[in-house]
Parts: sequence; structure tokens; C-alpha cells
Amino acid sequence: MRGRQRKVGTAVNSQSLEGSTVLVIGTGGIALATARLSAAAGARVVIAGRSPDKVAAGAAATGAVAEHVDVSDEASIAALAERLGSVDHVVNLAAAPANVALPRLDHAALVRAFDAKVFGPALLASRLSITTSLTLFSGFIAWRPAAERVAMATANGAVAFLAQALAVELAPVRVNAISPGIVDSGSWDGLGQGKAGFLERTAAANPARRTGSPEDLADAALFAMTNPFMTATTLHVDGGGRVA
Ligand SMILES: NC(=O)c1ccc[n+]([C@@H]2O[C@H](COP(=O)([O-])OP(=O)(O)OC[C@H]3O[C@@H](n4cnc5c(N)ncnc54)[C@H](OP(=O)(O)O)[C@@H]3O)[C@@H](O)[C@H]2O)c1
Repeated sequence: MRGRQRKVGTAVNSQSLEGSTVLVIGTGGIALATARLSAAAGARVVIAGRSPDKVAAGAAATGAVAEHVDVSDEASIAALAERLGSVDHVVNLAAAPANVALPRLDHAALVRAFDAKVFGPALLASRLSITTSLTLFSGFIAWRPAAERVAMATANGAVAFLAQALAVELAPVRVNAISPGIVDSGSWDGLGQGKAGFLERTAAANPARRTGSPEDLADAALFAMTNPFMTATTLHVDGGGRVA
């Protein structure tokens, strides 16, 4: 296990990101916030994704190094591993939602959803040389299924079990999952004028009486990266939305 220890109170119990390399996969709002907070904590950050323009913009906005990866493509993952060599922390935030009614759900959409969250991360774990932690992203819909969410509910559920399985196989590298609730990360912008009302209704129903910010989730990702005793765990950062 690598990562310098940092003092918290009187106990030395947390790994600092200072001087470490953090690979953030994805260019959505939570990925960019994770890159920003990791850089602020002293890490060298690499942002990787499949859309060169989005990766370049994300890297410019966060001071990260831009890299290419398509996690649905084994050769792309292997090439990234070759270029990067060893990395200390990996956070996968890739997601390919397939939110359609059951009669319209097809095999290709299911595969894309599982490629981004389950198969891709399993291959990342197998190909990349990781010294300290791997953090996966699940989602509250697995614990609170809703109509038109079969693909995402099952992919997110699989992420929680993938984290447990990888934690055993990659030990002492720690592997965890984070399960967000509804977060205004940019991914709801497609709702257009309906977005504000959707976020308000969600906040009113959540026990935390708010929706999440990208920073709420980035903070959890940093916790998963630096807490040396947390592994094989799914951390629910969902405002309590899964039980409301
Ligand atoms: N935001 C929420 O309310 C919410 C709720 C529950 C769970 N989550 C989870 O939290 C994580 C981050 O969410 P977010 O809203 O910040 O992100 P997001 O806006 O959904 O962005 C997803 C990212 O994944 C990338 N991606 C998709 N397929 C990929 C592939 N095969 N290879 C590489 N990159 C790929 C997309 O790239 P392109 O843009 O190039 O396609 C995009 O950058 C996701 O796992 C999401 O499911 C979010």
C-alpha cells in the first residue's frame, strides 16, 4: 500500500494525495469536481475519456493532463495502461444511461450501460497498475428502482458487487463504490426547462432536503481514496433518496 500518511487529530490514519497520481475517467460534473479537489489536495491528475474535445476542456478547467480512453474497448484500456504506467488512484465515472421503457430496451443499450460501469472497470482493474485505490460509481436507482431504469438499476447494483469482488482480488489495493443520488452535474441538462422543477421535487422528497452538488460526490471520492481502512464498501451519498 502506498500513499503518505497525514495526521488527523492525534491519530495518523489517512493517506494524503500529495504527490500521488489520480486517474479520473469521465468528463461529467462529478468527474471534473473530483479532478479539481484531487489537484487541490496535491495530486497530479489525469482526466481520461472518449471525447477528445470534452477531455481537453475538462483538463484545461482543472489543470489535469488529458488522456484518451474508451472503457468499452479493451484495446483502448490496454493502450492507456501502457502509456500511464503505474497510477496511485483510479476513479471511474463513465456512465452510458439507457433510460427507456422495457419494450424499447435492446441488447446494445444494455451492453453500453454495463461496459461503462461494470465490464470496463473490471478490465481497468485487470490492465492498469494501481498502487492504492480504485473507486467505482454506482447510483441510488439500484436500491430504489423506478420505471424505465432497468439497465441502470442493474448496472449500478452490479457495481456494488464488483467493488467487493475486486477488493478481495486486488488487495491490498482498496476498492470501493460510491452511490450518488440525484446530482446537478450537467447530466440532467437535457430536461431543459423541466430541470429546475425536477431538482426541486427531488430535494423536497430527499431526507437531506436537497439534491447533490458535484462537490458532495467528489468529497466522497477523496474520502474513498484516502481512508486506509475502507475497502469493499458502497458509500451512499444520496441525500437519503434511496429510502425516501
Ligand atoms: N448525476 C446524477 O444525478 C447521478 C445519479 C446517480 C448516479 N450517478 C453516477 O455518477 C457518475 C458520474 O455522473 P455524472 O452525472 O457526473 O456524469 P455524466 O454526466 O453522466 O457523464 C458520464 C461520462 O461518462 C463518459 N462515458 C460514457 N461511456 C464511456 C466510455 N465507454 N468510455 C469512456 N467514457 C465514457 C461520458 O463521455 P461522453 O460525454 O464522451 O459520452 C461522460 O463523460 C456516473 O457513474 C453516474 O451514473 C450520477
